[in-house]
Amino acid sequence: MNRKTLITLKTLTWIACLSPFALLAYEAVTNTLGPDPTSTIALTTGYNALLMLILSLAVTPLRLLSSRLSWLIKFRRLLGLFAFFYASIHLATYVALYLNFDMSIFKTDITKRRFIIAGFLAYSLLVPLAATSTTWSIRKLGGKRWNRLHKLVYLAAICGIIHYWWQVKPGVLSPMNLTITLVVLFLARPVLTFLQKRRTQRAVSV
Ligand code: HEM
Repeated sequence: MNRKTLITLKTLTWIACLSPFALLAYEAVTNTLGPDPTSTIALTTGYNALLMLILSLAVTPLRLLSSRLSWLIKFRRLLGLFAFFYASIHLATYVALYLNFDMSIFKTDITKRRFIIAGFLAYSLLVPLAATSTTWSIRKLGGKRWNRLHKLVYLAAICGIIHYWWQVKPGVLSPMNLTITLVVLFLARPVLTFLQKRRTQRAVSV
């Protein structure tokens, strides 16, 4: 892929990832966040955090699918950092708007409410990943250790999905789409790795 196309795609990704935030900001300024503004902010930021996290996980299977998609790696970090950005606003909304900074309620919540425990776990797993997302960190940790640490992203996504399911009312199936996407991505990875190895072996033996 040439430089110009890459820059265009990166710009479009930035616009797409920032648009939920821009829309929320617009609705906040124009007082159109709906009957429960706090919930609108929490739900939008939570959903987009999980969506971007799962999209970042789609990069590796897509690259395994075709070597022509290897450029997608340049988007994985961006998507991961946007997931962290939305998760941070999500958490800040909870602390500031739901709890009014009453950290004693937070302490009770992260020990007693199971959906908060799962959300907290997901966020705690995202922190070291965001902190080590720089090229400097990759060099400092070494590729192998960095890769091992960044496998935590799968666990963060699972905790995020569990948090989502535990948050919705019984019978509500809105988390299903993201759950199926995550399951497909989990299953695709070993299958595609196997197929890629076979392709390479065949190419070597020809
Ligand atoms: C300590 C950390 C977290 C807390 C306290 C928290 C809290 C909440 C709360 C209170 C809601 C319900 C909002 C409402 O019904 O008005 C919610 C929903 C949600 N949260 Fe979190 N959350 C946390 C971390 C996360 C993380 C890290 C993710 C994503 C990776 C996430 C994804 C979601 C999703 C997808 C929803 C449901 C959105 C929807 O129904 O459309 N949360 N969270």
